[in-house]
Amino acid sequence: MLISIKDINKNILFHLFNRAKTFKQQGFEKTLQNKIITTMFFEPSTRTKMSFETAILRMGAEILNFSTENSSLKKGETLEDTIRMASSYADLIIMRHPEEKASLRAKKVSHCPIINAGDGKNEHPTQTLLDLFTIYQHHGSLDNFTITLAGDLKYSRTIHSLIIALLDFTNAKISLASPKSLSLSTEYQQLIGDRLINIAPSLQEGLKSDYFYMTRVQKERFSDPTTPVEDEWLLDLAMCQQHAHPHTKILHPLPRVNEIATDIDDSDFQLYFEQAKNGIFIRAALLEYVLGEDHAY
Ligand code: NCD
Repeated sequence: MLISIKDINKNILFHLFNRAKTFKQQGFEKTLQNKIITTMFFEPSTRTKMSFETAILRMGAEILNFSTENSSLKKGETLEDTIRMASSYADLIIMRHPEEKASLRAKKVSHCPIINAGDGKNEHPTQTLLDLFTIYQHHGSLDNFTITLAGDLKYSRTIHSLIIALLDFTNAKISLASPKSLSLSTEYQQLIGDRLINIAPSLQEGLKSDYFYMTRVQKERFSDPTTPVEDEWLLDLAMCQQHAHPHTKILHPLPRVNEIATDIDDSDFQLYFEQAKNGIFIRAALLEYVLGEDHAY
């Protein structure tokens, strides 16, 4: 079961890293034959759904198709009843939903484990696993680095899960950089506490970090999606060359819309494509872990 990144401890994290590293270097192992996994996405997704489904197939399991368009949800069935049924067919449910805590609701009625693939603006724990795996592989450890969290810190669920994990599993020093109306909630700022080194008043001033984690403005989560953001931030190569360290790496959960210029793509600053690719390996490791016989949920 993975509802929140808080469900992971350091032992599990490093077990997942080891398995992901093996899959990346030596190929996948078909340890999930005879397992049926359903991906229930009530919100759009490219990378999360495709990387989970790739991992499912590479590990030898099968995908049970579910589409919100053609399901009885259209007839008014509740989320709870839909999950009850799906969980009596499949061995595992991977679920994304626009409502916060929807995966927690699902967990309460499910007969099989649930993996939260994003619930509203709350959390996105599997994205955090791949974010940390990417930093771990690039940096060589999870210690002694600085990271700037940038963009939409108010509505990005990737930011919320990442903050919890940075505090639990690393000694990273954290900076924040966001337009004022999208700043991090006081709840999360208090959580960061003395690990916060800087609130940058501009994008440029946040760039002097080992890792710069950019996020998209989550317009779909605004109460009025047409509300303009006072200052839409666009990161480009010239800005990185002028203000970042030469070794700074740019991370982004993707999709990008207009916050990272494409001229960064072929530069040494770019790490976001490698980050996205790592999603397959860490998610394969997670599927194996959650479906493992030692873990009765
Ligand atoms: C993120 C998400 O869905 O929260 N995307 C992803 O899973 N890689 C980020 C986003 O949509 O901005």
